[in-house]
Amino acid sequence: MKLNYLAVAASLGLTAVAQPTGSCTAPSNPDTFGLVAIKSGDAVQYAGFNAALNSIFARLPSQNATCDGTDNGSATFYIKDGALFLYGPNNQEIFVDRSGMGQGKIGYTVGDESGPRNGERTGWAIDGNNHLQFGGNDLIACPNSIDGAYSIWASAGVSNPAGNENCVGIAARVEKQANPTSCTYSTQ
Ligand SMILES: *[C@@H]1O[C@H](CO)[C@@H](O)[C@H](O)[C@H]1NC(C)=O
Ligand SMILES: *[C@@H]1O[C@H](CO)[C@@H](O)[C@H](O)[C@H]1NC(C)=O
Repeated sequence: MKLNYLAVAASLGLTAVAQPTGSCTAPSNPDTFGLVAIKSGDAVQYAGFNAALNSIFARLPSQNATCDGTDNGSATFYIKDGALFLYGPNNQEIFVDRSGMGQGKIGYTVGDESGPRNGERTGWAIDGNNHLQFGGNDLIACPNSIDGAYSIWASAGVSNPAGNENCVGIAARVEKQANPTSCTYSTQ
């Protein structure tokens, strides 16, 4: 008996899951960068981005990453073929969930883990103003997340996603890092 792969995948509900796009080997010399929130006049102004617990934050007091060197507290990213990765071993790849459930949730998977059912992997780009965007839109920062940090969201047309309050639209300014530190960011 030979089963049809697509039928099997469909029956397992796998078809819409965000599969990782990258291989498990990082490019040897990617253009790495950190990110800083820009929102003039708001408390989030100049907050650096962090990665922890499968999520992206800004102004997290301690991201608790395990690094090849010192974790200086901020996350290092690179883009490959429109997908966004954290710089480090084992394919730490960002996904975005703009569905009604996700409301713009940004997370990351490790290795060959699948993202959520409606997760998207590609759509990341740096615009002409040196700001990282997803799907042509700026990002959103919501205060009062863990450890007093901001949680960072993509725009899904919801200005206060997932029951958050007082969220603000921000520009995510790209700051090139010539000598990045390779890190394994924490997972839940
Ligand atoms: C980092 O570790 C400290 C000390 O254990 C803890 O208080 C803090 O909540 C951790 N932060 C994250 C983002 O896991
Ligand atoms: C962390 O180090 C990178 C260079 O590897 C630098 O660009 C960034 O500004 C540093 N962040 C902090 C908070 O010192």
